Amino acid sequence: MSLPSLGDLLRKTEEFFQRKEIENPRGDARRLLAHGLGLTPMQVMLQFDRPLTDPEVAVLRELVSRRGRGEPLQHILGVVGFRHLEIRCDARALVPRPETEQLVDLAQEKLAHLDTPRVHEVGVGTGCVALSMRHEKAKWRVTGSDLSPDALALARHNAQLLGIWTPFLRMDLLDGFLPESLDAVVSNPPYIASSEIPGLSAEVRCDPLLALDGGKDGLVVVARLAEQALRILKPGGWLLVEHGHDQGPSSVSLCGEGWAQAATVPDLAGLDRFLVAQKRPASL
Ligand SMILES: C[S@@+](CC[C@H](N)C(=O)[O-])C[C@H]1O[C@@H](n2cnc3c(N)ncnc32)[C@H](O)[C@@H]1O
Repeated sequence: MSLPSLGDLLRKTEEFFQRKEIENPRGDARRLLAHGLGLTPMQVMLQFDRPLTDPEVAVLRELVSRRGRGEPLQHILGVVGFRHLEIRCDARALVPRPETEQLVDLAQEKLAHLDTPRVHEVGVGTGCVALSMRHEKAKWRVTGSDLSPDALALARHNAQLLGIWTPFLRMDLLDGFLPESLDAVVSNPPYIASSEIPGLSAEVRCDPLLALDGGKDGLVVVARLAEQALRILKPGGWLLVEHGHDQGPSSVSLCGEGWAQAATVPDLAGLDRFLVAQKRPASL
């Protein structure tokens, strides 16, 4: 029997992923086969006629069937691109999502007037947000925390691999911070209502429950965070929090007295996504 070519296997993998209703069948097929063969996705496209050996086919079959069973592509590849960084990624923490990259832009926009702001990220997961902030703004004093020891271990590993010095602490939200000590609190907290968790796709359910479950209405953690942030932020400081596309008005309503302004900012798809709130400045 003749050996399958890389092009044959790519086509079959794409069809298999389509049947499995994987969101990006072509892209995932290309990246997975590239990973299995130690090639770049572009090299895969240039080597359609390359015959594959039996051992290569066996390795690729295993990778393809893991993806077909709903394992996230990023777990199989072990890395994910986030802004300018390559972040290690596994089942210990949430797979970083592209929309979260915008949290870093929002922080940079709101803190542009400060030279060395003191910024804390709550719920670091892989560390992608805190590490990006520190990487892109070397003078910012960035810290991060998480309740999950597993996530913290991964975040610290990423910091070490990338050579980006950022302290990551185990902490429940902002417990332990002194009043009026931070210029910004940044967070992508768990914000899915507990009742919706069983209905999530197999792929999303590979993320740790602690990273997803936002309690009864999904906003239990956000509400606690907003309450604590009002005390911990300096006057005029910013709270920047990712939320669900249907949680814009309810997130904004959590920031009443004591806040100078609160609004929901859309993501690049135009969906409500970020609570952007400023604590009242001292002069107001
Ligand atoms: C949605 S994930 C975000 C991870 C990462 N920042 C990202 O954007 O990819 C939420 C993170 O918050 C953490 N978390 C949940 N409850 C927490 C709490 N009470 N205090 C601190 N971290 C918490 C989870 O362990 C998880 O790592």
